[in-house]
Amino acid sequence: MKSDKLALFGGPKTIYKKFKKYNSIGIEEQRAVNRVIKNGVLSKYLARWGDDFFGGPMVKKLEEDWKNKFKVKHAITVNSWTSGLICAVGAIGIEPGDEVIVPPWTMSASAMAILHWNAIPVFADIDPITFCIDPISIEKNISPYTKAIMVVDIGGQSADMEAIIKIAKKYNLKIICDTAQSPGAKYYERFAGTMADIGGYSLNYHKHIHTGEGGVLVTNNDILANKMRLIRNHAESVVGDMKFDDLTNMIGHNFRLGEIESAIGIEQLKKLDSLILSRQLVAKELYKGLENLNGLILPKVRENCTHVYYMFFMSLDLNQLRGAKRENIFKALKEEGLEGLSLSYTNIHLLPIFQKKQAYGKKGFPWNSEFTKRDINYKKGICPVSESFEDKNYLGFQMCMFEMDKKEIDLMISAFQKVWKNLHFLN
Ligand SMILES: Cc1ncc(COP(=O)(O)O)c(C=O)c1O
Repeated sequence: MKSDKLALFGGPKTIYKKFKKYNSIGIEEQRAVNRVIKNGVLSKYLARWGDDFFGGPMVKKLEEDWKNKFKVKHAITVNSWTSGLICAVGAIGIEPGDEVIVPPWTMSASAMAILHWNAIPVFADIDPITFCIDPISIEKNISPYTKAIMVVDIGGQSADMEAIIKIAKKYNLKIICDTAQSPGAKYYERFAGTMADIGGYSLNYHKHIHTGEGGVLVTNNDILANKMRLIRNHAESVVGDMKFDDLTNMIGHNFRLGEIESAIGIEQLKKLDSLILSRQLVAKELYKGLENLNGLILPKVRENCTHVYYMFFMSLDLNQLRGAKRENIFKALKEEGLEGLSLSYTNIHLLPIFQKKQAYGKKGFPWNSEFTKRDINYKKGICPVSESFEDKNYLGFQMCMFEMDKKEIDLMISAFQKVWKNLHFLN
């Protein structure tokens, strides 16, 4: 697209205004931090069996509040959701060389947690409507080595848990739910992340609620909960005193969340419902303003479920764009002052680590066929839906990064409308 074509758009350019950055931290969190500092206890963990194995008062309070809010038996805080995923995969008793099915349309940590235990990620494609893992593709990818499914509730809504739970029962598989991006989303009456053997949420700075860095695991299973607590806090040196006789994956870490972060988390959790509601109201306005643009496909919410809009995943029907090219539409929208748009998310199976099949050392572990006795395919083409979004028609908006008030919403809608009126210039 040449710039003289852009000039043909007519009318004044929208005045560029930087979108306000999302900030959910307020006076409540400041006061909570001050209380912890005054108290002087910034962490109380000890890697020894006893009360301090479970952390300090703020850690315990956040876990208690989270448990009550999400209606689960155990909530376990960790210093990041990446740490949480590592605890989860370890706790289900995964063995080196076992396969875990995971979607490629996610953040790399979903698959790295599998590799962390020398197990093997196997990629199942995503559903083109919700961008979440497709149960049909899960079933196609099951092998005699499959031990678990890593579901990802991507972008703000739950995957199709009813279908996934059925498959897991049929093949005797464990389910881990990476609900990093969708805290508070509902699947029928239940919270996303709470229907799996283990689920959990990220508390990093761009999530709905956050503690800077952090995460929370949830489970209704006492044994899995204890295993995750062990992995969080130096399992190897505690497991003996705890009289825990299962030594599987008892290499521990320091994945402990501090008292300051936990105190912030307690205040943030109180705000979750209102923060979700404000995101949903913004989305409602975006649907109203964008729904008549031919060829622009807006996010669809699964029936009887809610969406919390971490992302606003859009795509394009290329046959309805009067010949306009996606890259040119993207450029034109950016020229109108829009931030947070992107043409790519991730197809993590295409990362070098999978293409080269080299994670530990130089000999290709854990894929080395002397060890696995089989070949794992990560070639382009294994996840056609996910790949074609990235290659052809994805257009995403990172809603999580911005405070969207009326001004920003209007800017976004008018920019899209203006660009759509001028699609014929964008071929
Ligand atoms: C889907 C998904 N999984 C895992 C993670 C990792 O979470 P954290 O940054 O808390 O380690 C993220 C972070 O953005 C994520 O979006």
